[in-house]
Amino acid sequence: AEERTAFKEKIKALLIRENAVLVAHYYTSAILQELAEETGGCVSDSLEMARFGNEHPASTLVVAGVKFMGETAKILNPEKRVLMPTLEATCSLDIGCDADEFSAFCDQHSDRTVVVYANTSAAVKARADWVVTSSIALDVVEHLDKQGEKILWAPDKYLGGYVKKATGADVLLWDGSCIVHEEFKAKGILDLKHLYPDAAVLVHPESPESVVDIADVVGSTSQLIQAAQDMDNNEFIVATDSGIFYKMQQLAPGKTFIEAPTAGTGATCRSCAHCPWMAMNGLDNLADVLEKGDQEIFVDDELREKALIPLRRMLDFSA
Ligand code: 13P
Ligand code: SF4
Repeated sequence: AEERTAFKEKIKALLIRENAVLVAHYYTSAILQELAEETGGCVSDSLEMARFGNEHPASTLVVAGVKFMGETAKILNPEKRVLMPTLEATCSLDIGCDADEFSAFCDQHSDRTVVVYANTSAAVKARADWVVTSSIALDVVEHLDKQGEKILWAPDKYLGGYVKKATGADVLLWDGSCIVHEEFKAKGILDLKHLYPDAAVLVHPESPESVVDIADVVGSTSQLIQAAQDMDNNEFIVATDSGIFYKMQQLAPGKTFIEAPTAGTGATCRSCAHCPWMAMNGLDNLADVLEKGDQEIFVDDELREKALIPLRRMLDFSA
């Protein structure tokens, strides 16, 4: 513990030295979230991370999360230096949506408005009319549907399917998924409900349809944390990355949070649902990048200018 405290102090000093601010996602480790909180940084969902980085005066943003979050920060803030603990931290949705294949898919369906999830590369965003995060996907698609627009959605088929069903919009889906959320099983959750009959079920919409169907609340990380605070229930079964428990416990102390099982047996599985790429963010590589300045995000100028348009649209829509 002493060693950790010394490490944290070292990082705090480095953040000041580098005029840097730490922007962390809810799925990163508790210690990184603590550090962000103690140093005036932010811990939030992907939409608020983008907004915070955009509004904060620091000349360096250190994004603890996965690569698309760093790229989004760079696209919005080309004048700032954007660092990440490791550039290796990617996302299965990003990997599963190759920019050239995606562009060809858009060409085949040029009558459709292209809406992409934030969990994509800069090149995919550059091809889009809209970028959305899970917290505003429903509102944006509803808005476009009202205007009579047909939609091409990528990459997460589960989030896209959920939005399609909830809005009734004409949505054509790309076939991508999150390797963490797609593992949640409805049967396991229902079995767990026998043990905790009063528990509310909180589900991130990257989960399969059968899991979303049995949810009491479906929402982005920030929306699920809000629900944990607002609902009268004392017990919650939570189907999203286990990193979220740090914030839930902090903001709703005294309540019990149970990990939704990723197998159909009803047996709880400690930290099965944890994104391997989020887990790459640690104190050591954070200190390293602040010292060395390697692991810097760069986005090609032409791509950046194109990707900025749908990203700005997202921020303006949700303002
Ligand atoms: P949120 O926008 O809900 O934070 O989700 C980001 C993400 O990667 C979920 O897996
Ligand atoms: Fe991507 Fe899933 Fe990891 Fe989120 S949890 S970063 S969607 S792989």
